[in-house]
Amino acid sequence: MNITYYGHSCFGVEVKGKNLLFDPFISPNELAKNIDVNKVAADYILISHGHEDHIADAVAIAKRTNAKVICNWEIYNWLTKQGVENIHPMNCGGKVKLDFGNVKCVVAQHSSSLPDGSYGGNPMGFVVESTEGNFYYAGDTALTYDMKLIGDYRQIDFSFLPIGDNFTMGADNAIIACDFIRCNDIIGMHYDTFGFIKIDKSEAVSKFERAGKKLTLMEIGTQLKK
Ligand code: NI
Ligand code: MN
Repeated sequence: MNITYYGHSCFGVEVKGKNLLFDPFISPNELAKNIDVNKVAADYILISHGHEDHIADAVAIAKRTNAKVICNWEIYNWLTKQGVENIHPMNCGGKVKLDFGNVKCVVAQHSSSLPDGSYGGNPMGFVVESTEGNFYYAGDTALTYDMKLIGDYRQIDFSFLPIGDNFTMGADNAIIACDFIRCNDIIGMHYDTFGFIKIDKSEAVSKFERAGKKLTLMEIGTQLKK
């Protein structure tokens, strides 16, 4: 799998030749100003919840690429009103079989409203399963015991976890999450974009190291093979 970091919680993951794009928030992100949002590839757009910093570019990218959007029922209704047509609505606990593998929606402990203030439904994370491997994209979430169910459910090869604290869990709780999901190979997200979530990156990496786990913090615009 080929992973591209577009900043904040936005990643592209190529699975079986299909481009999965998570939580597109690029054009308003000062740290991602070198990314051309008009060139971001997507066959699927997975949206964890309705907050602006996860959905800002979703409508434009969905319309340009005609990617299938995976999101909850309330976001499905909202995107439909914005003229997005190719959407697969889901909700927590549900799984769908797609051409690259499966996507299972899992619990995230957070809130969710849409940019216009309307109700965004429940926030979610995603477990992606394919013959190339399985990974967990947590979205915005606190540490929650529900993560143990993810570890029970599937072998997770690597995981995207928020580490910015304040709005989500921080590095200390993400280290505990590793034990719950039984995965020690973590790509960090949701840090440094705004003042509230600025972190000491080298301290976070060494905390993971001391706990016997690996935290990778990708440079925006770079790629990583898994
Ligand atoms: Ni959020
Ligand atoms: Mn957020």
